[in-house]
Amino acid sequence: MTKLLLRRRQWLKASLHAPVMWSGGAAALSGCLTGWKPSVSKERLSRPAPRPEELLAAMTLDEKLGQMTQADVKALRMHENDIAELGLGSVLNGGDSLPRPNTPEAWADQYDKVQSRALNSRLGIPLIVGTDAVHGHALVKGAVAFPHNIGLGAAGDAALVQEVARITAKEVAGTGIDWIFGPCVAVARDERWGRTYESYSEDSALVAKLGAAVVKGFQTDDLSASSSVLACAKHFLGDGGTTAGVDQGNAQVSEEELRRVHLPGYIEAIKAGVGSVMISYSKWNDVPMHINADLITGLLKGELGFTGFVVTDWEAIDRMGLPYDKAVALSLNAGVDMVMAPNRYRRFIEVARALVKAKQVPVSRIDDAVLRILRQKQALGLWQRPMVDRSLTREVGSAAHRAVGRRAVQASLVVLKNEGVLPLKRQARILVAGRKADDLGAQCGGWTVSWQGRKGAVTTGTSILAGLQQVAGAGNKLTFSVDGEGGEQADVVVAVVGEEPYAEGRGDRKNLSLRKDDRALLDRLRQSGKPMVVVLLSGRPLILDEVIQHAQAVVAAWLPGTEGAGVADVLFGDVAATGKLPFTWPANMNQIPINAGDAKSEPLFPLGFGLA
Ligand code: BGC
Ligand code: BGC
Repeated sequence: MTKLLLRRRQWLKASLHAPVMWSGGAAALSGCLTGWKPSVSKERLSRPAPRPEELLAAMTLDEKLGQMTQADVKALRMHENDIAELGLGSVLNGGDSLPRPNTPEAWADQYDKVQSRALNSRLGIPLIVGTDAVHGHALVKGAVAFPHNIGLGAAGDAALVQEVARITAKEVAGTGIDWIFGPCVAVARDERWGRTYESYSEDSALVAKLGAAVVKGFQTDDLSASSSVLACAKHFLGDGGTTAGVDQGNAQVSEEELRRVHLPGYIEAIKAGVGSVMISYSKWNDVPMHINADLITGLLKGELGFTGFVVTDWEAIDRMGLPYDKAVALSLNAGVDMVMAPNRYRRFIEVARALVKAKQVPVSRIDDAVLRILRQKQALGLWQRPMVDRSLTREVGSAAHRAVGRRAVQASLVVLKNEGVLPLKRQARILVAGRKADDLGAQCGGWTVSWQGRKGAVTTGTSILAGLQQVAGAGNKLTFSVDGEGGEQADVVVAVVGEEPYAEGRGDRKNLSLRKDDRALLDRLRQSGKPMVVVLLSGRPLILDEVIQHAQAVVAAWLPGTEGAGVADVLFGDVAATGKLPFTWPANMNQIPINAGDAKSEPLFPLGFGLA
């Protein structure tokens, strides 16, 4: 059968018989990559893409299952032979699986290395490599970190968000990567959720509008262009609707609410051509989303006509509390096409093989999954341009890209209060106070150079303090004090306070009050008797209590990313404040969850609030 096909298909013949060039000798054979240089024969580079149906017909069951498997690049580090041996379809880098040194060039080298492994497999099907560039390609040191989605929601400008997405795609493509796990079209309905900042808004319409803009910015009109990348709308469905805002929790809502609140983002993303969708860890009324055939096959692929492929979340099949083989069968039969099995990818392939052999998962389902994946690979033009376009690598973190970041920061700021202190005067004696004023890591938040993010000088950029100094200009009378000493000598004090970096469930909080050290800082500054501007760095509305009374101005800066000068541009009035609240701002914890339209007590600020 395979032989017959081979005779008929020239391309396949070429790929099977082309000389495979290994340059790593024993190292390559042992699977240890030290010193191994990517090497792929000319025939395997820049080939016309075979038709997915032809490829499928040539694939063994194991190759099909390999194609459906996504492994983590760190787990593969000592086992890179597995890529070709298992015919893996995809590789991702988890948030803490980063090349060393963490430079754009090292990322690009890593890409070429794993990709050349795949090109040297029997069928030479290229990998699709994915990453979490969820606010720019911010896991890469030196890349631009844009405001997290909550800030872009405050900007509310689809054209700007599309531009941000375009730059993100270029930086991602500059490291070779083909696929971004975004946009996150979660509609966060409870601020206790640690992923609130990944949500553009509590308002589904705004989420849908901006999510679609991101899909266009990532994929463009020509997915095969070298700076286009595949988008992934996530996390399907209802991730932002879990009870009490528990990450990976249970969304106990009616089908009417599930569709009305949480579905519009997917409808618009599909209209914009999104090539993939990631399933949510969460449950809908006690049923894990990963096994919900009605929603994945019925609603997403059927009713909404989604033709791309569906990927699981990280080890999601392992986390459902079901025996693994049962969980695999249910997920695949529910419509999952690719399994993110970062570490135990071999186990997935073995279990899936047994399930197919036992007829618990039909071959037709496997074939459908593989075709969906191959079609996106074909649309990406991976056969024609499997290796990194190094001209893009040089552009990562460029001044032009940073300028877009700075504009995004300007547009994202929401002025909550201003009693005549803003704009700041350049000649004024300004005391800038608080550790976070000079902390790139804090202003970038999670998913920056690591999964959880970290305080300190984690990457290249402009801190809020540096931005203020820069924009205030030569001869300014700006001083900085971590603990707020010296307010008495100033005309005005600017305090930067807020949250410290976190990601996902580690950011779930029962109490959203300001931290103790921040409150102490504000108290000290208040004693100076000078007008006070509070700049809040946070992934969500915080409970402001007396802050809002004691400060003369309060500005929500969210998690602005690396371009801190954008904050100064607005504080000094060079750029008008235009941001509007993408979330209802609760007055106290008892009000949470509170969303526009709830018949509840008065929030501190309503959705859409923002002073000019
Ligand atoms: C997150 C996803 C992310 C994936 C890969 C998961 O923990 O829920 O949003 O895309 O990891 O890093
Ligand atoms: C990875 C993340 C992933 C998370 C899920 C981390 O180790 O770096 O990418 O989202 O695990 O638990």
